[in-house]
Amino acid sequence: MSTGHPDLDALLPRLDSVSTLGAAELEAEEIAVLGRKSGSLTAALKRVATLPVEERKRFGAAVNRLKAQFEAAFAARRDVLDAERTARDQAGLDLTMPGRGRWVGAEHPVTKVVREIVDIFRGIGFTVAVGPEVETEWYNFLALNFPADHPAMDMHDTLYLDAPPAEGESAGRLLLRTHTSPVQIRTLMESPPPVRVVIPGMVYRNDAFDPSHSPAFSQIEGLAVDEGISFVDLKATLIHFAHRFFGPATKTRFRPSFFPFTEPSAEMDVECQLCHGAGCPACKGTGWMEILGCGMVHPSVLENCNVDAERYTGWAFGMGPHRIAMLRYGIPDIRLLLEGDMRFLERVAGTAR
Ligand code: PHE
Repeated sequence: MSTGHPDLDALLPRLDSVSTLGAAELEAEEIAVLGRKSGSLTAALKRVATLPVEERKRFGAAVNRLKAQFEAAFAARRDVLDAERTARDQAGLDLTMPGRGRWVGAEHPVTKVVREIVDIFRGIGFTVAVGPEVETEWYNFLALNFPADHPAMDMHDTLYLDAPPAEGESAGRLLLRTHTSPVQIRTLMESPPPVRVVIPGMVYRNDAFDPSHSPAFSQIEGLAVDEGISFVDLKATLIHFAHRFFGPATKTRFRPSFFPFTEPSAEMDVECQLCHGAGCPACKGTGWMEILGCGMVHPSVLENCNVDAERYTGWAFGMGPHRIAMLRYGIPDIRLLLEGDMRFLERVAGTAR
């Protein structure tokens, strides 16, 4: 089909496609073609008056014919869309219903705590290391100076795998690591001192799943080994950490403790984050909360990694980000941090809709 006028012919493909337009497109196309200010056909009509008489007649008639065709096509398309909408409404679809809110993501509270802790240690020259969650008895216990009959190695305390270890008999059975301390061994065997690393990761124990226990939880290990390192470095670094993480005025205290792989060993408490030392049910009235175990790396551990214990000393710590998240946010039940219930996570993260 042709109108006999090239510039009008250019509009013919658009006339053909009116029958494919959606409701919003239809409205836009009507304005683009017939709109009073800048419609293409409106412009053509305005041009009619400027033409010589005999051309004016022919061109004017062609423009008016095309305009009528567009008007008919728009009306027909509108009828079809209206009919479709009525059919949908009758089928029970309510297109006027409000849309669904957008899902807002946020960091899990434990992820946030891990990132903050790692950032603080990065700021004082530590790097990040990781190790496998499936370990051998040698890395998890024996190299860390646990005696071979230590109760922590009992089936009741530790989750063993059926598969034999790839590394041979001397490595012992395969298990899910019970702490991140085996990565101390892996780090020292791979890179000789000076070493300053933090090691985040999941650990596993044969524990109940109740408000204060879980068979899977996170730890962050720290390890510093160099010449001339003393307990003063350990205390100063961990107090710096507590001040950065919990606030500059936070009180801390060290209590003597025992771990086979550190000597001397200690536990560090910070003042209760809920009552600030006054004593409350969360801190069992003591005003203190235990956040980590630590100590000077035992010389036998250094020797097990072929590090000269006469020349090098070091310190290590291990803390639990799940526990620390509970202390910081006042969360009473560790299971809330592991079950993935969106109602809880949205409230902690402040993204509730
Ligand atoms: N690995 C110990 C635990 O899981 C914590 C610890 C790490 C203690 C490093 C001292 C030094 O309880």
